Amino acid sequence: MKDLDRLAPVGSPERAMLEQLPPERLPRHVAIIMDGNGRWARGRGLPRVEGHRAGIRAVRESVEAAARLELDTLTLFAFSTENWKRPRWEVRTLMTLLKEYLNRELRTLVDNNVRFRPIGRIAELEVEVQEGLDKAVEATRANTGLLFQIALNYSGRAELTDTLVAAVRLARDGALAPESISEDWVTDHLTTAGVADPDLLIRTSGELRISNFLLWQLAYAELYFTPVLWPDFTTRDLLQAVADFARRERRFGGVLEGGGEAPEGEE
Ligand code: IPE
Ligand code: IPE
Ligand code: MG
Repeated sequence: MKDLDRLAPVGSPERAMLEQLPPERLPRHVAIIMDGNGRWARGRGLPRVEGHRAGIRAVRESVEAAARLELDTLTLFAFSTENWKRPRWEVRTLMTLLKEYLNRELRTLVDNNVRFRPIGRIAELEVEVQEGLDKAVEATRANTGLLFQIALNYSGRAELTDTLVAAVRLARDGALAPESISEDWVTDHLTTAGVADPDLLIRTSGELRISNFLLWQLAYAELYFTPVLWPDFTTRDLLQAVADFARRERRFGGVLEGGGEAPEGEE
């Protein structure tokens, strides 16, 4: 049973919204491009890093809300391969905040039955960050609730390139025949292997782009853009996105059932 009381208090508009949502219309996997930390800070006359610090509350809240909604997977884009272009001090602060988050939140992740999984070129991150990630993966390995994927040093093109390189290596060694490469094979050799594609992609801060996130996996995701800056994103915003998703018609290139009578002589 979903933990509705802790998601939205009785009598609140969100609660009414939630109660009207048929469970089968909820997304199973939500992916979020967490954007707008810098603008949030600038709007307050603060340095950019204060925006990143403030963004951690939104991470914590979204993970908890996703767990209470009983989503299968929440994937958060935390650091892209392109983000290395930022000033060194900003990158350093982001890595420090990540380590702090892992230290502080691990207990909560374990207690909420959340399974943690980093995706991206993790081996290129500093050793201390890798150790923190490994520890979180290990501590949550046996959990059976929400899968929380965090994309770090991630980009969709880098991921597809790595998969291509792996395929060529296998083929060179005689372990993979070109005919056996299918869409399923590719899906099973991405860093997200074993995880169903996102149903819903949310991007905060009003930008209308994908920024190299999950290019393969987002093929049929529903897109939701909100002007809310990431540090201001709350459970309520997540529920609004989910409610919007629930109203959409997904066709995957087909037609809806009962999509019209066939002409005479056609099936
Ligand atoms: C998102 O906020 C956090 C990361 C990309 C790490 P930004 O830092 O991109 O914030 P804006 O887009 O400059 O406002
Ligand atoms: C996308 O945000 C990456 C993350 C949220 C980690 P950016 O702020 O880096 O994206 P662009 O540069 O505006 O496309
Ligand atoms: Mg940004």
